[in-house]
Amino acid sequence: DLHSFPTRRSSDLRTSLMAGNWKMNKTVEEAAGMVKALKAAVANVSDVEILVCPAFTALYAVNNEIKGSNINLGAQNLFWEAKGAFTGEISPAMIKEAGCSYVIIGHSERRQYFSETDETVNKRVKAAFANGLIPVVCVGETLEEREKDITFKVIETQIRGGLAGLSPEEASSAVIAYEPVWAIGTGKTATPDQAQQVHAFIRKLYREIYADAAGKVRILYGGSVNPKNVSDLMKQPDIDGGLVGGASLEADSFAQLVKYSK
Ligand code: PGA
Repeated sequence: DLHSFPTRRSSDLRTSLMAGNWKMNKTVEEAAGMVKALKAAVANVSDVEILVCPAFTALYAVNNEIKGSNINLGAQNLFWEAKGAFTGEISPAMIKEAGCSYVIIGHSERRQYFSETDETVNKRVKAAFANGLIPVVCVGETLEEREKDITFKVIETQIRGGLAGLSPEEASSAVIAYEPVWAIGTGKTATPDQAQQVHAFIRKLYREIYADAAGKVRILYGGSVNPKNVSDLMKQPDIDGGLVGGASLEADSFAQLVKYSK
């Protein structure tokens, strides 16, 4: 029963998180300019946690710009090994040193174009925690899977596989992002009800696996979130924030999302 877990959101337990996934956009200069403007636009926000996830090359510069502000920094991926002959990869310590406290793991674009699986997601999640980084673990069904009516099964496999073997503390501090693949970059948002249904399912599953961590874990919605649809999504009891691509690229629209996301 989806409704067996009390779903009223308690801000004591879960602070809303609005995360911008910049994907492969912005040079160092563009990234630094954007956060400078964002910093000013969200300076008086204290009830929502704010996160930006620039490309690797811009992390260091963005970190310099946001020092002492209410904006947090995340990377979009990491490799799980500490160092060595892994040409083209970035280690957890490298992104930590660049100023990151978060890292996105297993985004559907990485699963789709770069062959990531629940198994490699799990290795990255564990490496993130081992290095003091909080993973934002992405899950979500494709259109074909939704039409076949196997959405819950797909999500369950991704959560059980990607988050296997976490301690209770890790399970509590992990962030999950539910991003239906058919809603990413398409302008087609899941309806608030559709999203809430899956978020409630994830929290119930989490309760089964990780007991009390279910009340603490933040579950973000992602997929064409914009300033118009954000507040209806955020009203849902199990939606604790957003993972936003397109609408996070401009300071103005991202600041609007932050402000509407209580
Ligand atoms: P979108 O991307 O907001 O542009 O749909 C979301 C995401 O992929 O994280």
